[in-house]
Amino acid sequence: MKTRKIFLSEKEIPRQWYNVQADLPTPLEPMLHPGTGQPVGPDDLAPLFPMPLIAQEVSQERFIDIPDEVLEKYLMWRPTPLYRAYGLEKALETPAKIYFKNEGVSPAGSHKPNTAIAQAYYNKISGIKRITTETGAGQWGSALAFSCALFGLKCKVYMVKISYNQKPYRRMMMETWGANCVASPSSETKAGQSILDQNPDSPGSLGMAISEAIEAAVSDETGETRYSLGSVLNHVLMHQTVIGLECQKQMEIAGDYPDVPFVRDKINGKDIDIIAVEPTSCPTMTKGPFAYDFGDSVQMAPLAPMHTLGHTFVPAPIHAGGLRYHGMAPIVSQLVLDEIVKPISISQMETFKAGITFAQNEGFISAPETTHAVAIAIREAVKAKEEGKEKVILFNWSGHGLVDMAAYEAYLSGKLKDHALPEAEIQRALKDIEPLPKPKQYKAGAFS
Ligand SMILES: Cc1ncc(COP(=O)(O)O)c(C=O)c1O
Repeated sequence: MKTRKIFLSEKEIPRQWYNVQADLPTPLEPMLHPGTGQPVGPDDLAPLFPMPLIAQEVSQERFIDIPDEVLEKYLMWRPTPLYRAYGLEKALETPAKIYFKNEGVSPAGSHKPNTAIAQAYYNKISGIKRITTETGAGQWGSALAFSCALFGLKCKVYMVKISYNQKPYRRMMMETWGANCVASPSSETKAGQSILDQNPDSPGSLGMAISEAIEAAVSDETGETRYSLGSVLNHVLMHQTVIGLECQKQMEIAGDYPDVPFVRDKINGKDIDIIAVEPTSCPTMTKGPFAYDFGDSVQMAPLAPMHTLGHTFVPAPIHAGGLRYHGMAPIVSQLVLDEIVKPISISQMETFKAGITFAQNEGFISAPETTHAVAIAIREAVKAKEEGKEKVILFNWSGHGLVDMAAYEAYLSGKLKDHALPEAEIQRALKDIEPLPKPKQYKAGAFS
């Protein structure tokens, strides 16, 4: 019988996070203060984040210990299984070997708790009682609600209004874990009210929800509330490296090394492809300039050096699949500039078609966000068939779609259409954004 799942024992769970900042060929440009335009310091970030996370944000240490209390919570579902997709390989008649890391086994159903647990822990030990945040499709909001419940913290989630209405079960998950979730833009904050004054029918955006969450945190006179971000920041990405670190051990057990795999190996000159996929209706890396831009819509968050579609960007309501933030993590943006990560945008009809193919051959129903990675894995496998190459493809199956079935219903009933962000909309949202001159280009292998 063929080995389908590769497990690690609880003893083999990674004990440290990997901090790619230690190996970035081109160091990141600094975050800038939204008021002064000067590089932010720890005191500027202190009203938003607890000090241990601020320290991680700027750390150049290659490996950072994972606290025991975080490991203890991780063991509720980690290490996660690595699967060999024999069914999909057979359906595609490809010589490629396809592996997927199943991050859908977490209690919240996605990879998001990897950082939500860590952020809740560091807020807890810093005496914080309440955390506010934004959420789009709801994966992040439910992950933070779950994590706050485990650490006895209050949780307030501002959810992009169109998703709040489309995905009631995501809100129900958050409320089951004791969080309070409201549709954004809301009249609960000045930021939300100012947006509603301009457009009472606004479908919302992550940028708007972030503005509300930040305002709710910094305006709490008790000083016991902080803000938490679901992606973008260095410490958030670092917490997610438990996925890759486990995969490295599991691929060794499988006796395979992926041709589509690990950033650090690529930085050190390995000839491999690392693909970052995004939707054509939110083409941040593929169409957005690299520029300093606000992390939120109402210009309260620091300016980040990133690929951006402009902080006033509002995703089209037709877009069913998450991944609709106007910006991109500075680390990912820098890796794209240095050609270590290859960005690709993909249409939602292809992503849902891939999700259906995956479900019918591997069983699992993917979250709309996850179908983007599935679609690229299928493209790579088809390419391997055309080239007659035995490629090894590894992708992150970031979450299940069991509470996103409305999107599948729209696809299966033919209501879904492809949507590419019109050039005019990109130019409208970018009119106040100054593209940054590209930092010095680095050549592959220079740092091995
Ligand atoms: C800043 C930020 N927050 C939250 C999220 C995730 O939101 P959700 O998982 O609810 O779609 C994203 C996803 O792109 C994001 O970029």
